[in-house]
Amino acid sequence: MKKNMPESDIILQLEHLSSHYIRRKSAFWGGDERKDILNDVSFSIRRGEAFGLVGESGCGKSTLARAIIGLIPSDGTIMIDGESVLQKRTKEQRKKVQIVFQDPLSSLNPTKKIGWILEEPLRIHGIGDRASRLRRVNETLELIGLDNTFRDRYPSELSGGQRQRVSIGEALMLRPKLIVADEPVSALDVSVQSQILNLMEDLRRSLGLSYLFISHNLNVIYYLCDRTAVMYMGQIVELADVQTLFDLPAHPYTKMLLSAISEIGSEPEKTQKDKILPEALDREPSKTGCAFFARCPNACEKCKSISPELVNIGEALKKQHFVCCHCLAHSTANY
Ligand SMILES: Nc1ncnc2c1ncn2[C@@H]1O[C@H](COP(=O)(O)OP(=O)(O)OP(=O)(O)O)[C@@H](O)[C@H]1O
Ligand SMILES: [Mg+2]
Repeated sequence: MKKNMPESDIILQLEHLSSHYIRRKSAFWGGDERKDILNDVSFSIRRGEAFGLVGESGCGKSTLARAIIGLIPSDGTIMIDGESVLQKRTKEQRKKVQIVFQDPLSSLNPTKKIGWILEEPLRIHGIGDRASRLRRVNETLELIGLDNTFRDRYPSELSGGQRQRVSIGEALMLRPKLIVADEPVSALDVSVQSQILNLMEDLRRSLGLSYLFISHNLNVIYYLCDRTAVMYMGQIVELADVQTLFDLPAHPYTKMLLSAISEIGSEPEKTQKDKILPEALDREPSKTGCAFFARCPNACEKCKSISPELVNIGEALKKQHFVCCHCLAHSTANY
């Protein structure tokens, strides 16, 4: 960014992002099979914002995380801190976005001590001398609530929560602006989950971090995030601030997710009158129309043949509430 230009409010901007995997059908006969995963994903994350991404298993959440940090190719636009990074990333651009995975036991090198693990990103990027790197390790241990004695321990000697603190610390070593957290608390006990969420919230405030926070669990998103997007089969089907999403869910899939958490008695409790009925699930999936057609209780002929677009239904209430659904009469019934 040029020095005399005002800093944009946006840390991450995705425009029309698509991604696919290529699977080799047979080593002998050859032939590739293309599997489209992300379909026209557009949203942006503001500086200092915690942005949630929720959706069922296999919908493409981790694929989106991998595309954002540049692990897999994608089409469209990815802007980080005002710069396009889709084709090529400089070291400086790489430092700005770091990832935290669900399972620290597999992401932390089991043969190395925590001090070595934390220092590694600095060595890779050629940052500082031994003494300054050690200072950064100690500072980071303090940030993640572990004392200096943890430098000499191995990952296997730590509890699940402590290991996840180390993963967060590892991500913080390069002092990024955005952290992509892919189900960072899903593998932890509920009591430990809240400690890690509190830590993430404290770090967000003290370091001015932004998060893309991926979770199956809407309660976790409600607790930590300002806004959230709901993903279904690689598409964003609803996007709003979390309070609006919980109070006025509009997409039938979001309503289904919310009714699932109210059924198991979790907080915050919401009861949805219009649950997805099992009878609505026997339709053939539509190849041309709405991705949710086969499971939607409100689907009509138009839904079968025409893909809906993400539109703002919140204008009357001066809200940004985007929904991808033809049946807006159903969607806005709560408004
Ligand atoms: N390397 C790969 N090669 C081919 N297909 C893949 C690959 N990785 C993931 N997929 C497929 O892409 C789809 C999306 O996977 P992804 O891991 O992004 O889902 P997810 O939303 O993160 O799911 P979960 O909640 O279970 O973590 C799935 O159908 C998955 O099988
Ligand atoms: Mg995943």
